Order: sequence, then structure tokens, then C-alpha cells
Amino acid sequence: MENVIQELRRYVEQKLENEGSGHDWSHIDRVTRLAIIIAEAEQANLFVCEAAALVHDLVDDKLTCPEEGFKEVEKLLRHVEENDRNHIIEIISTISFKGGKMPPVRSLEAKVVQDADRLDAIGAIGIARTFVYAGSKGDMMYDPSLTPREEMSASSYREGRSTAINHFYEKLLKLKDLMNTEKGKELAEERHACMESFLEQFHYEWEGKKKV
Ligand code: ADP
Ligand code: NI
Repeated sequence: MENVIQELRRYVEQKLENEGSGHDWSHIDRVTRLAIIIAEAEQANLFVCEAAALVHDLVDDKLTCPEEGFKEVEKLLRHVEENDRNHIIEIISTISFKGGKMPPVRSLEAKVVQDADRLDAIGAIGIARTFVYAGSKGDMMYDPSLTPREEMSASSYREGRSTAINHFYEKLLKLKDLMNTEKGKELAEERHACMESFLEQFHYEWEGKKKV
């Protein structure tokens, strides 16, 4: 199992090292570390959580063609026992946000990896990644005439026009209350507060005002 993890780390690091939309190797590495911390607290299967965290963005439709991605992951997991392999594949096919339209995840390990991925989407790192993503897509940082979308299908979430600031209201501020595990909830608190104070300051500065 140690060998499998080492091989996955090497493969994913090389594959995503030049990724430019905030889903690079450092994202995978942080999510993997968070997944281990949460898995230990929740007594989940460590190998399954770590392996799923390492491969979770290889099947992301923002980055790749998902069918190709699943074939690639099957191949990477060829030496893993069938139950674990199927479990890892189920986890990575169910954890994505997609406008909030996905059904809740089922296994404890899926909950752990989803929480880890979501924690890296919020807080100071989440703020930074959101502006990197918006920049990479050519979106604006803010446009007060574009109001945040309330209800979105998975495709309108991906394709409709948005701004970095709207992404906080469309997704990121909702994540704290969507955490699955107790450890995830605990870790989300200060990250959520950091985004709230950032947004408050952003809006003050946009208006040319001071907070105090
Ligand atoms: P998932 O990969 O779970 O489906 P998302 O596609 O919503 O999640 O996004 C992953 C990360 O990419 C977000 O947390 C955010 O940092 C960035 N991102 C996604 N969509 C946008 C957007 N419209 N504007 C800015 N950042 C975005
Ligand atoms: Ni991710």
C-alpha cells in the first residue's frame, strides 16, 4: 500500500505541477494532508482516504475529459484490492460540488475526502485560489451589476458568467454548513470567518470607505 501511495504521489505531482487554475499539485498535497488529519479523527480507512485525495482531481471535468480520467485512475489503481479500488472510484465520482446539485456522499471515507477538498476551497487559501481560477478563465474579480445566482444546474454553474466575488456567495460561504464530519466542521470555522471579514473589507474598499 505504501508503494501505491508513493506511485500515486509521483504521478499526480508530475501531471498537475503546471496546472494554472488553482488545482495544481499543491492543492492535491494540502487536500491529502487534510484528509489524513480528518480520517484519523473520524477513524476512517486511511489508505482509501489518502489514495482518493491524491487522485480526486484527475477526473474533474474542469481539467480533463472525465472518461479518460477514470481510465487513467483504474490503471493507477490496478494493484489495489478490488473493494478498495471500487471504493476510491466511487468517492472521486461523487464528491464534486457542481453547483450544489450532487446527492450527499455515502461512505465515511467519501465524507472525509469531500470535507478535505472543501476546506481547501475556503479560508485564505480558498480566497487565493478563487482569484487564480477567475483570472485563468478571464472572469472579472467583481461586477456589481452581475448578481450572484441562487439556483443553478450543474451546467449553468460551470458555463454561466460569474465573477470571483460572486463565487463566494454562490458556493464558498455555503460550505461551512455542508461539512460532513465533526473535524471538518471544526476546521471550517476560522476559515469561514476569514472569508467573511475579507468580503466585508472588500466591499468597504470598493466604495472607497473605511471600516473604522
Ligand atoms: P468542485 O471541483 O468540487 O466541483 P468547483 O468546481 O466549484 O468545485 O471549484 C473548485 C475551486 O475552483 C473553487 O473552490 C474555486 O476556488 C474555484 N472556482 C470554481 N468555479 C469558480 C468560479 N466561477 N469563479 C472563481 N473560482 C471558481
Ligand atoms: Ni480538488
